[in-house]
Amino acid sequence: MKIHVWRSLSLAIGVLVFSATLASAAQVEKFFDRHGNLVVQEKVERYKRRADEGTVFPVPPPPFSEGIFPCSDCHADMEPNPQRRDLVEMHDDIVLEHAEGQRWCLDCHNLNDRDKLRLVSGEEIPFTESYRLCGQCHGDKLRDWKVGIHGKRTGYWNGEKQYLLCAHCHNPHSPRFKSLQPLPPPVRPENLNRQGVVEASGHN
Ligand code: HEC
Ligand code: HEC
Ligand code: HEC
Ligand code: HEC
Repeated sequence: MKIHVWRSLSLAIGVLVFSATLASAAQVEKFFDRHGNLVVQEKVERYKRRADEGTVFPVPPPPFSEGIFPCSDCHADMEPNPQRRDLVEMHDDIVLEHAEGQRWCLDCHNLNDRDKLRLVSGEEIPFTESYRLCGQCHGDKLRDWKVGIHGKRTGYWNGEKQYLLCAHCHNPHSPRFKSLQPLPPPVRPENLNRQGVVEASGHN
């Protein structure tokens, strides 16, 4: 009888000691420093990703022309026209040079609510998330943009950041950067007279 009590008591103590070791193991972390020495230290709190991180990025307001947004100022009272055509009454300044043979305005803009963009999935997104629209086809660029390799990101490396939208740099309707016009080199000073006028000379 006595033996039995002792056995269960030592078992209980054993369990207690074991779980105490487990608990303390969770509080320390071990790693090798850059000299190869084993370091055992108390666990430090690391920067944690927010649940919504990866889909919503802080950006400045989209670069709209003055007075064009909200689009619904005009479009709310208009019959939407999904027909591909030359626009003449409005937006005739918009020239599509972006795989234009394969698409039309309404592949990106939303037919019934013009204040929103539209993804291929049918999801409607605000203009502040237009990078998601671009990322449907330029996934590699979007991936680079998120980690600050493409485009422009400012802020803290381990904290708050701001991003420029793709549309701050690329015109969504004609995104390719136009090549610069080559110009002649500047006139050498010895070929200028006091009035800054080019003098006839053999080499300029
Ligand atoms: C590849 C997707 C795409 C296509 C195709 C497209 N747009 Fe856009 N459009 C955008 C995005 C993104 C913006 C938002 C730019 C910004 O953030 O300022 C925009 C902006 C606009 C604006 C506001 C322009 C301004 O001056 O601020 C108008 C108007 C517009 N689009 C009309 C059209 C029309 C009309 C067509 C078809 C002829 C068209 N879009 C085709 C993506 C597209
Ligand atoms: C000042 C009024 C006005 C504003 C603001 C305006 N639109 Fe329009 N939009 C028009 C008119 C008018 C047409 C028809 C043009 C035509 O048929 O020649 C049109 C046509 C379009 C079309 C072609 C499809 C259709 O339904 O006719 C698209 C796409 C479009 N607008 C997008 C936009 C977007 C996106 C914005 C906001 C960023 C915007 N518009 C702001 C007046 C406006
Ligand atoms: C539906 C697919 C699709 C979407 C959405 C799309 N693009 Fe494109 N983009 C293309 C294709 C295809 C080309 C190459 C053909 C061309 O340049 O006309 C291209 C070309 C480009 C180029 C030029 C690349 C070069 O070779 O110089 C840039 C920059 C660009 N897109 C940026 C954007 C931005 C910014 C957005 C969002 C506003 C966007 N794209 C949305 C399909 C897409
Ligand atoms: C800060 C400005 C900036 C922002 C923001 C930006 N880009 Fe660019 N992008 C550039 C420049 C500059 C180039 C190089 C243009 C060149 O070489 O002609 C470029 C090139 C590209 C190209 C062509 C690349 C190639 O291989 O030829 C694509 C596609 C593109 N960007 C898409 C995007 C998309 C999508 C986004 C948003 C997720 C974005 N860009 C955001 C400035 C920007």
